[in-house]
Amino acid sequence: MSSAVATETEAAPRIPVMIPWLGEEEAEAAAEAVRSGWVAQGPRVAEFERAFAAEVGAAHGVAVSSGTTALHLGLVALGVKAGDEVVVPSLSFIATANAARYVGAAPVFADVDLTTGNLTPETITAVLTPRTRAVILVHQGGVPADLDALRGLCADRGLALLEDAACAAGVRYRDRPVGVGAQVAAWSFHPRKLLTTGEGGMVTTDDAEYAARMRRLREHGMNVSAADRHASSKPVLEAYLETGFNYRMTDIQAAVGLVQLRKLAPTVAERRELAARYQRELADIKGLTPVTDPEYGQTNYQSFWVRLDERFPVSRDDLLLRLSDAGVSARRGIMAAHLEPAYADVSTPRLPVTEDLSLNSLILPVFHGMTAEQQDRVVAVLKAAAGD
Ligand SMILES: Cc1ncc(COP(=O)(O)O)c(C=O)c1O
Repeated sequence: MSSAVATETEAAPRIPVMIPWLGEEEAEAAAEAVRSGWVAQGPRVAEFERAFAAEVGAAHGVAVSSGTTALHLGLVALGVKAGDEVVVPSLSFIATANAARYVGAAPVFADVDLTTGNLTPETITAVLTPRTRAVILVHQGGVPADLDALRGLCADRGLALLEDAACAAGVRYRDRPVGVGAQVAAWSFHPRKLLTTGEGGMVTTDDAEYAARMRRLREHGMNVSAADRHASSKPVLEAYLETGFNYRMTDIQAAVGLVQLRKLAPTVAERRELAARYQRELADIKGLTPVTDPEYGQTNYQSFWVRLDERFPVSRDDLLLRLSDAGVSARRGIMAAHLEPAYADVSTPRLPVTEDLSLNSLILPVFHGMTAEQQDRVVAVLKAAAGD
């Protein structure tokens, strides 16, 4: 018998910021893929592509190895090249800006809206130059960007628009999935997202030529997929039409993805309930504003963030420390790429809203199976810090 006597705090298990909702069904699906003997990109990837594209309202889905490689292929398909400028929000995971550099283009950082964390026509217009060729919008943390406004601006200016939907599975814009009507949208299936395949991503589009080219590019630029070549009873002599990449997803990942896709709707519903409870509980705290739905759409609360303003008595970093000491894993708000050493060579004017959000917001735990008691523990730390 242990001689240690656990204190109450030690006994309460740490609250994670996020846990993927994975279970026996995913394990069995992955095992079946292994038993089938076909583990690389094959029939399960094709089935996952069809099912995911249908779910998000796109004609074509091209599965890839990550959200980052999805962004890269999206920019290639849209014809963005060396010498072009690509407007991106600085307030995003760094992969958004990096994608522009992968095609030799220059990312140009634009500010965002304080309540949604997303680009607006005004913030984009402020940084347009004659070299601007494309915009990458992000549905940050699952909060939909104002698609009509942003798609309209890009169409009027002749700019390509890549939609970084890494966090946006299950997000709705004016009662339709955000994938509907996108030129090209890039999705991530990293475990921090609502639907995971371990690592993985997808590019969706309604344009058959873009889809065909991205299929080719993810597979070394080959004119026939390895799966089709192996399935043929006759010898197939493939050709390599352009310099491509190996950005393929495996059939093991796709098998997991197919199960996860069936859980997407209940996952979003549960997260929205948890978010609504946080919003009710935190409503009276002065100087703390929780993220919420914009009037034109519904977030999936991939990230539930709260912003602190000058009325809140404790700094963001101190609050993170207090949460950590109380056994709660929270995270700093979304990063600002223009403040990172990797982008020190890009001269960027101050981006006041981006800097405010990045420095003064934090992400609270939300995950499948989170209990009211766990939420109360998080809320109690915030209230105590606020002096309530
Ligand atoms: C907005 C955004 N874009 C791109 C990515 C990159 O996705 P992945 O990690 O699947 O490469 C992420 C993932 O964290 C993201 O949040």
